[in-house]
Amino acid sequence: MTSGLTMQAATPDDAYEFVAPFRAPQGSPIRELFKYVGRPGMISFAGGYPSKDLFDRDGLAQALEAAYRSDPIACLQYGDTAGAPLLRRSLARLMAVRGVECSGDDILVTTGSQQGFDLLVRTLIAPGDTALIEEPAYPAAIQALRLAGATIVTMRTDSDGIDVDALADQLDTWGDAKRPKLLYTVPTFANPTGATLPRARREALVRLAARHRIVLVEDDPYGELRFAGTPVPPILALADACPGARDWVVYFGSLSKIVAPGLRIGWAVAPAPIARRMIVAKQTSDLCTSPLSQEAARHYLDSGSLELHLRSIVGAYRSRCDALLKALAHFAPEDIEFCAPQGGMFVWARLSAGRDAAEVLKRAIERNVMFVPGTAFFVRNPDVSSLRLSFAAPSEAEAFEGARRLASALA
Ligand SMILES: Cc1ncc(COP(=O)(O)O)c(C=O)c1O
Repeated sequence: MTSGLTMQAATPDDAYEFVAPFRAPQGSPIRELFKYVGRPGMISFAGGYPSKDLFDRDGLAQALEAAYRSDPIACLQYGDTAGAPLLRRSLARLMAVRGVECSGDDILVTTGSQQGFDLLVRTLIAPGDTALIEEPAYPAAIQALRLAGATIVTMRTDSDGIDVDALADQLDTWGDAKRPKLLYTVPTFANPTGATLPRARREALVRLAARHRIVLVEDDPYGELRFAGTPVPPILALADACPGARDWVVYFGSLSKIVAPGLRIGWAVAPAPIARRMIVAKQTSDLCTSPLSQEAARHYLDSGSLELHLRSIVGAYRSRCDALLKALAHFAPEDIEFCAPQGGMFVWARLSAGRDAAEVLKRAIERNVMFVPGTAFFVRNPDVSSLRLSFAAPSEAEAFEGARRLASALA
């Protein structure tokens, strides 16, 4: 496990009697790769990081300054565990833009949406409880479920996301005895596949969750990064059309991909009984999300900067994605196949002839280009020939050069 700590311990690990999931913990395989990112000349398609060239540095500097000037004490003091009331109201307005009706009272501010999922898992999952997850899936969601001791059952997916008909059959055969407690999905521009679940499947999925009383987790950090195709409403927005369904959906939003992950601002919209318990869990986690960050985020949202910024990053991601896909088709037409995403940050690809992406990565790193082998996104039985390429960070010229180097690693 990469901890970032280098201190040598004299006492063996097993002296500490760690709880089961921490006895032989596996750190994030993606974070393991980051030791190569800083290498001079490296072109990285690996991280799900927003582009450093696209941060709205001036807008955020103004928001931080305005936050501090207008209420320094609010910035410096502890705040409400559920979040600063004014930011909660601003986030409710953002949810309205996404088609979800809610008030500030329905919003729980979290320290990144990752914390939100962790809090939810703590409130719902006991060791042995079943949780459904799409496969391939976001590794930190798999990790949170593993650490909670969940029995993780994967759902079949295709290029449009979860195969909801197959899931319905599976749930019917299981009956109530094996009923999963939670279902996790990134339905819009998924990490890692870039897939977007069509509206009809969303409607069927939310009906299914309500009928089987499964908490449906909609993780939506990428939804606003659409650069092609027609927008699809969040699952939470569609839940209102199905009586009782809203009680079974927990939505996670984040400013990480659309503003800056360093703010660590995420939020949850959850049914009140769940939200109340997540707040109790958050009290023992961090007491409150950084009030300085929250105030800055509020100023940023209320100033209208987000809309302007979104326009600029969505355009840039469109160009970067196009550049990468064209270059891959040009340099490696026989070696790699992929689906073009309509937004987000990721292209999911497959190497031809069942080649092992981890082996290719070693040669790619020698040529100063990186990606994430697909095995990182599977609970079990990984597809070794799959890989995830993020087009967010490299410029168009770098995407072109990176694809050329990748083709050379494949040759
Ligand atoms: C699907 C998904 N959910 C959540 C997160 C974490 O977001 P945050 O920075 O808000 O914790 C990420 C980050 O990569 C992600 O890809």
